[in-house]
Amino acid sequence: MRPQDRIMELKRERNAVILAHNYQIPDIQDIADFVGDSLGLAMEAARTTADVIVFCGVDFMAESAKVLNPTKVVLHPEEKARCPMAAMCDPKALRLLKRDFPRAEVVAYVNTSAECKAESDVCCTSSNAVKVVNALDSDLIIFIPDENLASFVQRSTEKDIIPWPGYCPTHDAITVEKLSKLKEEHPGAVILVHPECRPEVIDMAEAARSTEGMLNYIRDSPKTEFIIGTEQDMVHRLKKEFPDRTFYTVTGAVCPTMKLITLDNIIAALETMTPEVTLDPALMERAKRPLQRMLDIGRGD
Ligand code: 13P
Ligand code: SF4
Repeated sequence: MRPQDRIMELKRERNAVILAHNYQIPDIQDIADFVGDSLGLAMEAARTTADVIVFCGVDFMAESAKVLNPTKVVLHPEEKARCPMAAMCDPKALRLLKRDFPRAEVVAYVNTSAECKAESDVCCTSSNAVKVVNALDSDLIIFIPDENLASFVQRSTEKDIIPWPGYCPTHDAITVEKLSKLKEEHPGAVILVHPECRPEVIDMAEAARSTEGMLNYIRDSPKTEFIIGTEQDMVHRLKKEFPDRTFYTVTGAVCPTMKLITLDNIIAALETMTPEVTLDPALMERAKRPLQRMLDIGRGD
């Protein structure tokens, strides 16, 4: 039996839903019930009526699904699939920073642990970071953990942002040199980048958008060629949605931990009902408030 067919069989048996991020390998995007960005996945996890959520993405995404819908069994097929940027912020150091700036409100990019979210006033994704910051009362914001996203938000707000020194190694590998070379080869192509990219990379792009925001941008654009400054498998989703357009990827833009989820470990997870995401109930209560506030604010791009 093909692994895809076995997954369908197990999904029916377990009443499971498969949620996959836009950076998952093509085979997984093709069998998922929902493919999207972090915000879309959090919304989908919060509203699903399935008994089991198989989360194909990295640790903080699976944790958020559990926090938002705690009565469901959330399976994360490979526990080692962790976002290195989320690991760059720790709750102890965050508490110390909060003590130094008691007037500041804390915005946690969803790429954080549940412990860091629990210390925060509100969460955001790259889709709604500007909208979230501008919706807050304070004019001083501690923004964790991505300094590039913090600097992107700073461009669109009057408020003062105190950035945390974290970054995404995958988006850091997207350089001005690589994009310039692609632009030379395809002068008619529009450059779209993710807000996790460095400021000088954002400067040379037509637009910086969340992964789902890129889709919305392309849908509304009359252009036919696009240079995609984010993780390379995003282009699988784009090609499926827009078969008559052409997309170019950036060499080396791979998120290795996203690739740890495979058809085989999805099968194993559904067969054994492990690894299951489990979190302390009191921690989930504290992390839920900022996540729910983010969902209430909604999409920004
Ligand atoms: P999106 O929310 O735009 O999908 O981004 C998630 C992420 O981890 C980007 O590196
Ligand atoms: Fe984390 Fe970067 Fe991978 Fe996104 S692309 S999951 S921020 S390491």
